[in-house]
Amino acid sequence: MRNLIQCTVLVMVFLLIFVPLYGCYADDDHHKKNHGYQEGFHKDGDHNDDHDHETYLKAVTNQTYKETCGACHFAYQPGLLPSGSWIRILNSLEDHFGEALDIDAESKKTISKYLTDNAAEHSGAERAVKIMKSLRGQTPSRITEIPYIRHKHRDIPPEVFSRKAVGSLSNCSACHRTADQGIYEDDNVVIPK
Ligand code: HEC
Ligand code: HEC
Repeated sequence: MRNLIQCTVLVMVFLLIFVPLYGCYADDDHHKKNHGYQEGFHKDGDHNDDHDHETYLKAVTNQTYKETCGACHFAYQPGLLPSGSWIRILNSLEDHFGEALDIDAESKKTISKYLTDNAAEHSGAERAVKIMKSLRGQTPSRITEIPYIRHKHRDIPPEVFSRKAVGSLSNCSACHRTADQGIYEDDNVVIPK
């Protein structure tokens, strides 16, 4: 009996010490990146189980958001920004990057709820987690100002953005062929000529 208790105590001590340690190291960027490739992209594409939901950003499902906010540019997934950023954007519709947006109160309420409920801090998707980590509490009004997003695109030559089919880094779907599915793996990138 005493042996059993000693053994149980030993196992518990082991778990207490080593499991948190492993957690710290497993969080490393490289580890997760490889995980994303293996678990995600090499599947046939028609998988839609729970694991995929965790790996990729959720595709846009709200029709009001899609029609209203996707009218001028790509309808960015809510998981690309924290709710603080979405609220900042929705509170300055009269000057939306130089455009005045006229959105009725009912639609604005629907959009606001959709964006904040599904914002980056509520997502378990790999990209959303990295976005939150890199923001360290900041709430920029652009996805393209997020340090993680800037870092990922730092090697693209400036002349690429002057191409008509690209225009700017804000135009995610120009290069990410699977952007509307919330999939931004670099395997799926084609920069238009
Ligand atoms: C009338 C056209 C128009 C509509 C409608 C519109 N936007 Fe925009 N949006 C713009 C322009 C112009 C920019 C700046 C693009 C650039 O700098 O290349 C922009 C930029 C953005 C960006 C920053 C993209 C980046 O660079 O990271 C976000 C986020 C955004 N809009 C969200 C929204 C949301 C949310 C809605 C709906 C409430 C919305 N937009 C509706 C015109 C529009
Ligand atoms: C001009 C083309 C272009 C545009 C526009 C663009 N990207 Fe990218 N993106 C790339 C390329 C190329 C890479 C791969 C970089 C590399 O090899 O590490 C990339 C990488 C990424 C990654 C990391 C993928 C990985 O596997 O590590 C994310 C996330 C991402 N982009 C999101 C976005 C979002 C969100 C937008 C829009 C706000 C956007 N991109 C706009 C070309 C683009």
